[in-house]
Amino acid sequence: MSALFSPFELKSVKLRNRVAIPPMCQYSAVDGVTNDWHLAHYASLARGGAGLVIVEATAVSPEGRISPGCTGLWNDEQAQGMARIAAAIKSHGAVPGIQIAHAGRKASANRPWEGDDHIAEDDPRGWPTISPSAVAFGKHLGKVPRAMTLDDIARVKADFVAAARRALAAGFEWLELHFAHGYLAQSFFSLHSNHRDDAYGGDLAGRSRFLLETLAAVREVWPEHLPLTARFGVLEYDGRDEQTLTESIEVTRRMREGGLDLLNVSVGFSTYEANIPWGSAFLAPIAERVKQEAGIAVASSWGIDDPHAANRVVAHGQMDLVMIGRALLANPHWPYYAARELGVDRSSWVLPAPYAHWLERYAVQRAA
Ligand SMILES: Cc1cc2nc3c(=O)[nH]c(=O)nc-3n(C[C@H](O)[C@H](O)[C@H](O)COP(=O)(O)O)c2cc1C
Repeated sequence: MSALFSPFELKSVKLRNRVAIPPMCQYSAVDGVTNDWHLAHYASLARGGAGLVIVEATAVSPEGRISPGCTGLWNDEQAQGMARIAAAIKSHGAVPGIQIAHAGRKASANRPWEGDDHIAEDDPRGWPTISPSAVAFGKHLGKVPRAMTLDDIARVKADFVAAARRALAAGFEWLELHFAHGYLAQSFFSLHSNHRDDAYGGDLAGRSRFLLETLAAVREVWPEHLPLTARFGVLEYDGRDEQTLTESIEVTRRMREGGLDLLNVSVGFSTYEANIPWGSAFLAPIAERVKQEAGIAVASSWGIDDPHAANRVVAHGQMDLVMIGRALLANPHWPYYAARELGVDRSSWVLPAPYAHWLERYAVQRAA
């Protein structure tokens, strides 16, 4: 059996294989509520045969959305829409996961295909942003956020808890806290964005406090038998990488002690001056180091679209799960294609029976 198509268990959850679909914003919701686009999109991703489908960054509050089109989980109407999506993913044999998020200083932006920049100050579609310190990301995201008060911090943590409860009630079985990509939690951790001199800034204990407290609060409402995971940017490629990675591994250890079950290893994206070494599976050695030094299961993504590369990172113990994003947008049946490439026995059956039966017969006819 190929490593990629071996099952994976975490807590009480069993994935049929190691192909996971990472969260990918669709920027297509209205007032945070999902619609037919999301239902068809997530159902088709799950139908393709992945073990885990994680629904896009879903804001814990209106101000926490990246764009006006982002999904939310701060009210019951949004939760009802999400319940249909979780059920659709599950009905296709994948485990339904969701990422809950607050975009911090990167919030209030136009959709990527409409500029990817901050919405203009005089445009009523925009809103004020918050962050640990009043420091803008810069360039196309130049809006200066308001530095959060201690009340703001308490409120956002409570918003994460409320969203986690709604995610559970909606039927999700895998929760990912978005602590990456220059959004709010990453901004607390990063020296690029956190200039606070109170208990939530300064040394490592201060800069990781928001992450650890949010995790602890969510763990209290997220059942012990279900995986609680986080996505975390463990380095920035800003020239301080060894220092940041060492700190990130220490924070990951503390998160593991606080109840984290798996880390989705990613990049910080806290500065546009990063020099990222884009390339196939470039994060694999970093993920492996986090796995070994923090003693926790890991997943990762970025540039893994070749089935053999995906299989290799699992076979070599670099990742427990491989997150495949854009290759799945190009071909939602990528797991079927990968199973064929890797010589998985009766690979058609990665897809549901109404497809698998015919594809298996078709393959036999063509080979004859
Ligand atoms: C359309 C799109 C939306 C994305 N939205 C999110 C998101 O909601 N949350 C997140 O953590 N990453 C997001 N990402 C990053 C992906 O999860 C993934 O890490 C990235 O696409 C790299 O993997 P790939 O090379 O397999 O595509 C997004 C990427 C794309 C292409």
